[in-house]
Amino acid sequence: MTRYPDGLTKDVDATGQHRRGDAIGVFDSGVGGLSVLRALRAELPLETFFYLSDSGHAPYGERDDSHVIRRSHAAVRYLIDHHHIKTLVVACNTATAAAIKLLRQDYPELPIVGIEPALKPACVHSKTRQIGVMATRGTLNSEKFRVLLASLHGQATFVLQPCDGLADAIERDDAIKTIALCADFTRAMGRFGTEKGEMDTLVLGCTHYPFIEHVLRPLVGKDVIFLEGGAPVARQTRRVLAERGWLAQSSESSAQDGALALGTTGDPQRLRDAIERWLLMSVTAPTRVLI
Ligand code: DGL
Repeated sequence: MTRYPDGLTKDVDATGQHRRGDAIGVFDSGVGGLSVLRALRAELPLETFFYLSDSGHAPYGERDDSHVIRRSHAAVRYLIDHHHIKTLVVACNTATAAAIKLLRQDYPELPIVGIEPALKPACVHSKTRQIGVMATRGTLNSEKFRVLLASLHGQATFVLQPCDGLADAIERDDAIKTIALCADFTRAMGRFGTEKGEMDTLVLGCTHYPFIEHVLRPLVGKDVIFLEGGAPVARQTRRVLAERGWLAQSSESSAQDGALALGTTGDPQRLRDAIERWLLMSVTAPTRVLI
C-alpha cells in the first residue's frame, strides 16, 4: 500500500503499477453519462470515479464524426494524464459509435468499455416484436449501429427515430423544448402499446434520455418498457476490472470508498446541479477543464 500526497492510499499490482485504487474515468458529451455513472456506482460502490462532461463542446449527436473523434481523444488524454485512470467508460452512445475503435487502437493498455443502444435486450423483452429506438442521428447513422441492427435481422421490427435537438434541450434543462420534441418524436414513430402491431418497448439509445422518462411515459402509455444501457455497462466494467485484479477493495478510511470527482469543459454549476437533481447527491464543485 502506498500513501499519496493527496491522502489516498493505493495498492500496487503485480506489474508495479498502481491500479486497484485508481479512478475509473467516465466520459460523455455532457450530463447524459450521469445515467451510466448512477449504474456504475450502484454496481461498484467501492470504486473511485472521475466523471468528465464535455458540455463545452456538446451536443455530439448532430456533429460529424471528426468532431466526436477529436473530442473523445482529448477527453481520454486528459483522464490519463491528470487522473491516471485504470479504465475508461465511454458513457455516450454517439462517441462509442464514432470513436471507440480508434481509442482502443491508440490506447491498447487501457481497458475501454462503451455503450450501445439496448436492441438485444429489447428483442428479449418485446412481445409484440415492434421496438422503438430513440437515439442521436450520429448513433443511428453509424457503421457500428448498422452492424448491430443487421445482427438482429428478422427478430423484430425496429422503428428508428433520430432525435435532433433533444440531448441539447436536456443539457440546457429546457423543459418546454424537451416536452415539445418528445411529443413530436413519439408521434412520428407510430403507435405504442401492447396490442399486435404496437411498440411495447422503447430503447433509450442516448444516455441523456433516461432522465426524461417522466416526459416520455405519458406519451407512450404505462405499459411500454423503457430500456437503457447503464446496468449492462456497469456489469461489463466489473468484469473487465475483475479479470485484471483491479477491483477496488475497501480502504481503511471508508470515506475514500466510492469517491467521486468531476470535471467539465462547460459550466461547473450546471453539472453540479444535474448531479444533485438526478443522482440525489451533493458534490464538491466540478473542476473547469480546458481541453
Ligand atoms: N449522451 C450522448 C449519447 O449517448 C449524446 C448526446 C449528444 O451529445 O448529442 O449518444
